[in-house]
Amino acid sequence: MSTTERNLTWNDSPIQKADRRDQNGHHSFVLWLTGLSGAGKSTVANALQAVLHEQGLQAYLLDGDNLRMGLNSDLGFSADDRTENVRRVAEVSKLFVDAGIIVITALISPYQEDRDAARTRYEDGEFVEVFVDCALEVCEERDPKGLYKRAKDGQIANFTGISSPYERPTSPEIVLHTDNDSVVSCVAQVLDWLRAKQYIPDGQVPVESNQ
Ligand code: ADX
Repeated sequence: MSTTERNLTWNDSPIQKADRRDQNGHHSFVLWLTGLSGAGKSTVANALQAVLHEQGLQAYLLDGDNLRMGLNSDLGFSADDRTENVRRVAEVSKLFVDAGIIVITALISPYQEDRDAARTRYEDGEFVEVFVDCALEVCEERDPKGLYKRAKDGQIANFTGISSPYERPTSPEIVLHTDNDSVVSCVAQVLDWLRAKQYIPDGQVPVESNQ
């Protein structure tokens, strides 16, 4: 049903995204981290958030597990529920971007189509897809939550990488290799990209002190 059919009218705010960005003194965008469970999305995301915060930038992390305890507590792990999960987080992140904030999301978001649909919700350049690449065998070996073991024992259905697919991003802006590079190095790679593209101001960032 169209918005007209639903009797809805968009209410334009007199204070715009550009005003909020001006006030914050920086650009706002989403860093969309995608990757297998155990790849290190939350770890890298937390470290990134800390560094950005320390630099005086407004940054906020939306973590998949955390969101599934509240906003998305009605969703499971079927393909449809994951699609809805990604849609909701993309919409919430868009509100944060509108509020002038740098959003970091950490969701498996396994389907290319869902990530592409998320991207279309943003203006050009606002959606930065970060592939947190880590070999499945390494994730299984790390198994920080013991979920791979339980999935392989048949105790968890539709587990990504085991009984549910993960589609590698086809053209992410940034690729991190968490099976080879340290968290510090991964954070530095993201910061370098953001500075090179002038998403964040130049400046020395005390990465080491945030680990
Ligand atoms: S997504 O696929 O819909 O993007 P999301 O990132 O929100 O997933 O949640 C993934 C987290 O839920 C995992 O880190 C893990 O802790 C937990 N989880 C529980 N069941 C599953 C499952 N079947 N597949 C993947 N992750 C699961």
